Amino acid sequence: MCGIVAYVGNKPAQNILMQGLRRLEYRGYDSAGILVVTKNKKLKRVRSVGNVDELQKKLKNQKLAGAIGIAHTRWATHGGVTEKNAHPHFGQQGTVALAHNGIIENYQYLKQKYLANHKFKSETDTEVLAHLIEKFHAKLSLKKSVEKTLGLIGGTYGLVVISAKEPDKIMVARSGSPLAIGLGKNQNIIASDATPILPHTRKIIYLDDGEYAEITAEECQIYRLGTKGEIDKKAQKIDWTMEQAQKAGFEHFMLKEIHDQPIVIMDAVRGRLRPKEGSARMGGFNMTDLQAQKIKQITLLACGTANYACMVGKYLFERLAQIPTNAEIGSEFRYRNPVIDNKTLVFSVSQSGETLDTLVSQREAKRKGARVRGIVNVVGSTIAREADGGTYIHAGPELSVASSKAFTNMLMILTLYAVYFGRLRKMSFETGSKIIKEIQKLPGKVNQILEQAQAIKKAAKNYAGYKNMLFLGRGINYPIALEGSHKLKELSYIHSEAYPAGEMKHGANALLDPKFPVVAIATKNNLYEKMISNLEEVKARKSPILAVATKGDKKIQQLTQDVIYVPKTIEILEPVLNVIPFQLLAYYSACELKRNVDQPRNLAKSVTVE
Ligand code: M6R
Repeated sequence: MCGIVAYVGNKPAQNILMQGLRRLEYRGYDSAGILVVTKNKKLKRVRSVGNVDELQKKLKNQKLAGAIGIAHTRWATHGGVTEKNAHPHFGQQGTVALAHNGIIENYQYLKQKYLANHKFKSETDTEVLAHLIEKFHAKLSLKKSVEKTLGLIGGTYGLVVISAKEPDKIMVARSGSPLAIGLGKNQNIIASDATPILPHTRKIIYLDDGEYAEITAEECQIYRLGTKGEIDKKAQKIDWTMEQAQKAGFEHFMLKEIHDQPIVIMDAVRGRLRPKEGSARMGGFNMTDLQAQKIKQITLLACGTANYACMVGKYLFERLAQIPTNAEIGSEFRYRNPVIDNKTLVFSVSQSGETLDTLVSQREAKRKGARVRGIVNVVGSTIAREADGGTYIHAGPELSVASSKAFTNMLMILTLYAVYFGRLRKMSFETGSKIIKEIQKLPGKVNQILEQAQAIKKAAKNYAGYKNMLFLGRGINYPIALEGSHKLKELSYIHSEAYPAGEMKHGANALLDPKFPVVAIATKNNLYEKMISNLEEVKARKSPILAVATKGDKKIQQLTQDVIYVPKTIEILEPVLNVIPFQLLAYYSACELKRNVDQPRNLAKSVTVE
């Protein structure tokens, strides 16, 4: 996720763009850049590593005079955090420049097919687009060049493009990454969200996927790929405050991040699925198939929510690839004498990439000769840098202290690795293909659950008054019960515990009474009947039951007070769906109890101390 802002009008562009960048900084702050078309039609650019303050410092001694420009604040995906990789990027001749949010999946192919003799200055996927548009623009108008390029791109983009040859306009395009156009008087401003726009105008058009526009100070013409002629799109009047706009209208970052999940799941798997092989491949894994086949055991290192993702990972690696796997808590692992060697593959799993206990454990594993790889969200973070390779989960910036979308994307990447290892061992092509097909359906299914947010809010109201709660799961869903309980604790401060349901009769049944509700995952999998028996026992002790169940399951209603239905998927992917109701339950319980949702008491987003 990155932030884009562009301006064309009758005022100095620099200040407007810089103010816009500040408002978009939450979308990424690895580097920032600004480009303005000067009066003599030159494209003048300044970029800097670090946040917008760093860029501002660089601009102190050089003013960018002009009334049209583009700017970008980066969340690195392809290419490290360097000034060369910062946007905007130029074409080869420096006559076209653009800023991009998203991932161009086929940039290597585009490079080879159309730009074989071009020299690139960055390691980004984005620079390829600038070169391509500029190449077409030698003969075509900017609009036609952008259209032609969009027809070739695979992946996601929010794009703003500027040309020294047509210096009065900005071309913008959207597919998968948001873009809003603010319509002003003799000025128009484009941005990744409404916040940079609101100080200038409240009339906003939100582009939909497949739409692109040609924008001058006076006009905004919108088109749709594959259809001829301008389309008629009405502007909306936006009454949001600045903060509401940054949260895309959601009340909290947490809620926004929960709703980001259908999109970021796609970002996690994009370019990594290999349908023709019934497998998956992760670019930064840095291991040959032969080396991967020799791995004898896997150790997953993490803390908190990331550890629950790893517990699911253990189940996946053992079930799909038959590799003995341990999910280890960082703060414990570092003080043990763990049995690992050079045939052990260690994955350090972390949203921030800075969690000290995970980092120190990673160092310990390296010291013992293990092969260490990161599964990390924050690009260029310490864990990512110190690992010998790995995979970014592409969840985008997660600002709420309680993790949601990073957890889901950790599950996605662990699943892809498990499929990869499985296919190197005994998993059949058919099984691999089936999993891939089901993965591709997940975003739509997550959306179906999010559509039930109001029903979950109602359920949360029923349970927020209780002092204690118990989460139950079995098999691959036991870690999801743990994560549900973890989320409820940290967001609402309600005490909760999680148990594998079959373990209840060994002690925890003693807790059950009408004041002790049970939240259970009872989806239709191979342990469904067992879970139903467990819930019969709970019901007999008069504990209220809220169940997460598979769509269409009527039987469950006889046992429960409340049911949240999730769509059917294959068992190994159930965690991705089943966690969503728990995130919403915890969120709405916290709202009901008037907690500080995005910054729960006593916690920090990144725990860099022991
Ligand atoms: O950044 P990390 O994923 O390494 O963080 C690990 C935990 O601190 C984190 O998951 C924590 O449990 C969150 N507050 C969970 O919502």
